[in-house]
Amino acid sequence: MKKIAILTSGGDAPGMNACIRACVRSALSKGMEVYGVDRGYKGLVKNKIFPMTSQSVCEIIHRGGTILKSARCLEFKETETRKIAAEKLKTLGIEGLVVIGGDGSITGAKALSDDYGINVVGIPGTIDNDLAYTDFTLGFDTAVNTVLWAINALRDTMTSHDRVSIIKVMGRHCGDIALYAGICGGAEYILVPEVPYDIQKIANEIKKNKERGKTASIIVLAEGAGNEQEIKTIVSVISGADVKFSTLGHIQRGGTPTMADRMLAAKFGFKAIELLESGKTNRVVGCRGKEIFDMDITEALSMKKNFEKKIYDMAAVLS
Ligand code: ADP
Ligand code: F6P
Repeated sequence: MKKIAILTSGGDAPGMNACIRACVRSALSKGMEVYGVDRGYKGLVKNKIFPMTSQSVCEIIHRGGTILKSARCLEFKETETRKIAAEKLKTLGIEGLVVIGGDGSITGAKALSDDYGINVVGIPGTIDNDLAYTDFTLGFDTAVNTVLWAINALRDTMTSHDRVSIIKVMGRHCGDIALYAGICGGAEYILVPEVPYDIQKIANEIKKNKERGKTASIIVLAEGAGNEQEIKTIVSVISGADVKFSTLGHIQRGGTPTMADRMLAAKFGFKAIELLESGKTNRVVGCRGKEIFDMDITEALSMKKNFEKKIYDMAAVLS
């Protein structure tokens, strides 16, 4: 393969830039021509495709976000829109497309390949860690560390004032950000969409803890795991505690990528280009422990995410 393009799509994630850099420089080292696509599938459809050089990716390894910009393009779910995108790629003679994004973006890549024969390789890039086939997605580690920073700060002030903190975190339908940040931040309660919980019971426990002298607690609430206002009201009424609510919002999506995310970015990008070079396409890359692997895109997307209930239960013992 001699001509390839790269796009980032869906919610941006720290490490996307480092991954773009890895893709561009690996591809150039193999003598390929490299193109960037502006704003994900939107840019494909609008033909916003431009050549990239080694200099295009200077000074970006440490930056969050994506220099290619990202977007959600709902029209891409229609085959007619994908046809336009495929035609643009074919007209330019682009033989392979690297898609860095989450579940939705990789589903879009598969559809482009299934319908119009475009050779794709998907790289999992999302803070949500919601792709079943890989241990980790790009951006997850950085997002969790951002949440951890916030939990640490909240714990200081909650302890000083004998308060309960509810901190809401992202993740869409996946509780992994809450789970990992909750465990590592020593949260007393972790509420995730995957595991039912009894908020009355939790509030009663907080009340008893208060009577015993444990006057501060942290509750990490994942997106999709309940209404924060309802939870706050129930906990304060039953426990009598002063409950404060914080949400990190899009702060979780930005920031300089951690070592773990930069390493993953380098390995994912390098592997994706190896796959395109050898003509092994319609694949995704992923990691299992330190190992990077590739898998058929359809098989990967059909896998169901396995919530790590064992470590969730461990958190209850340790808190
Ligand atoms: P993420 O990739 O982070 O999961 P989204 O779910 O919002 O984010 O998906 C990003 C983009 O991927 C969508 O805006 C759309 O362009 C494309 N996409 C998502 N689902 C599909 C689908 N079923 N078919 C084709 N394209 C899709
Ligand atoms: O997929 C990443 C994510 O940040 C989710 O955790 C969240 O549900 C969603 O994107 C937020 O999307 P937006 O940036 O469009 O508000």
